[in-house]
Amino acid sequence: MSLANMKDLLLDAQKGGYAVGSFSIANMEMILGVIKAAEETKSPIILQIAEVRLNHSPLHIIGPTMIAAAKNAKVPVAVHLDHGTTLECIKQALEIGFTSVMFDGSHLDVEENIAMTKKVIEMAKPYGAAVEAEIGCVGGSEDGSVDIAMRCTSPEQAKHFYDETKVDALAIAIGNAHGFYKEAPELRFDILEKVRDAVEVPLVLHGGTGIEPEDFIRCHQSGIKKINIATATFASVEKQVRSDYADGKIGGYYDLHQSEIQGAYNNAKTHMEIFYSVGKAE
Ligand code: 13P
Repeated sequence: MSLANMKDLLLDAQKGGYAVGSFSIANMEMILGVIKAAEETKSPIILQIAEVRLNHSPLHIIGPTMIAAAKNAKVPVAVHLDHGTTLECIKQALEIGFTSVMFDGSHLDVEENIAMTKKVIEMAKPYGAAVEAEIGCVGGSEDGSVDIAMRCTSPEQAKHFYDETKVDALAIAIGNAHGFYKEAPELRFDILEKVRDAVEVPLVLHGGTGIEPEDFIRCHQSGIKKINIATATFASVEKQVRSDYADGKIGGYYDLHQSEIQGAYNNAKTHMEIFYSVGKAE
């Protein structure tokens, strides 16, 4: 149990017919809430933070906290750097002990993306860490600061990318976008199935917030093995805190602390059930 390699978790999910939730956290309370839900439901999970969020939660503080929480968990927990864009940050995460890192070269030309991803794979090797890359372009951006246009993954390009890099996990774009969807997303399951048939690697779905349960289920039954959830966690924490204040349940700081844990727990638990990861850590 405890600190796990992301690659192992995703290969188990491939064999077991479920997906592993990859939950973005911003502070210790969210870490505690997500791990509480994982332990209670006996789910393997991934704790992640994106490079762009590190201006709020510095890596040298949040990183060791994530690692310590994973090591002490009763279920396998991988610790992942989400949307790594600079080699410096990726190196720092590896030094701290993250068991996987994402290099996001989705904005680059495919050959440049391949070359940079190979560089990151070489960097991660001595640490035994897994590497995720992205092909195609997921819409929006992790922190909402830029509205990146979604560009669906080409199955041929995904195959070329995978043959060249042999990356451990591959994020694809099938109509998904980060943040709240302006309109209900219409996921391109035809593209997902073609990519799944073209490459053997576990696939990753970003932009999990706002996707309907039946679409999540269809995704994890069609090759998606890691599902990223960020905005829904932050929103669930805010909602819980607002409602606890409205109900007069918060009389001091530690009630607020407990309320934040509860908000993160509620959201994570709901997703673990939909991803069918419940009981898979037994
Ligand atoms: P959401 O914020 O839409 O859940 O996306 C999460 C994500 O993909 C992080 O990389």
